Amino acid sequence: MTIYKEKKGLEKTLNTFKQQNHSVGLVPTMGALHNGHLSLVKQALSQNDIVVVSIFVNPTQFNNQEDLEKYPRTLDTDVALLKTVSKNIIVFAPTANDIYDSNIKSIDFNFDGLEFEMEGKFRHGHFDGVGTIVKRLLETVKPDKAYFGEKDFQQLQIIKKLVEKFKIPVTIIGCKIEREDSGLAMSSRNTRLKPEYKKAAPFVFKTLESAKVKFGTKSANEVVKWVTDQFAKHPLLKLEYFIVADVIDLKPVKRKSNKKTYRAFIAVYADDIRLIDNIALN
Ligand code: PAJ
Repeated sequence: MTIYKEKKGLEKTLNTFKQQNHSVGLVPTMGALHNGHLSLVKQALSQNDIVVVSIFVNPTQFNNQEDLEKYPRTLDTDVALLKTVSKNIIVFAPTANDIYDSNIKSIDFNFDGLEFEMEGKFRHGHFDGVGTIVKRLLETVKPDKAYFGEKDFQQLQIIKKLVEKFKIPVTIIGCKIEREDSGLAMSSRNTRLKPEYKKAAPFVFKTLESAKVKFGTKSANEVVKWVTDQFAKHPLLKLEYFIVADVIDLKPVKRKSNKKTYRAFIAVYADDIRLIDNIALN
């Protein structure tokens, strides 16, 4: 396992591999790794000769300074966890100054409106920060394939748009959501849930599964109303949004069409912990 803290060394090593025609996969993360991240890493290992896992808590995607400071930084445990999967992974854990060339600022992107839906409404500037760092990582590592989780489905669609707009030569691979046995989508935030909230949190996915069944016979509006009612009755969980959207433009569905593909998206507060999840509907 090699760890690079500067892009210069990483680029040099990768150039040698590329000259030997080795394929390179990239898995961008912010660390605090769990099995959700590892599923991306395993998929990348199965499809590439070399896998780079980047671990970098990106300051420009946080709209709240306190959130950024509180974000767990656990490089040693992350590296140990990655070693259990494969010793051949390259870890790239740069400093902000190194990866940003001392200009720690977001680019102002136009993602054709994808950035204004759902998470974009509640986390201003977030996707400019994500786009900026992912663009930098793709330009630095120049991978053949890069892996992103459907857990952050809006982020995945925005990255596909970024790659299309800037003609970056990489294939973006979306990976399925890893869940705990309870159905709760894995997230580094889950460890911060107090016991009663941890017990309540699987309700989020259970409701998504029921919403999927209802979507077979009911309109999007009826499903939205039903989900809203379920959370209004819930003693602990607070619904921030529930949206049935077209997977291409992420806009809420007005009238169902059997030619389109839909997904349901949800954000819920469990005490002060914000949980997001989504499910394919058809
Ligand atoms: P982070 O939250 O660390 O997530 C890294 C990757 O792991 C993302 O692509 C995310 O969708 C995926 N992931 C997280 N939980 C998952 C789960 N339960 N199942 C499957 N995949 C899961 O997302 C980011 O970091 C950052 O925004 C980043 C893209 C690294 C840019 O800074």
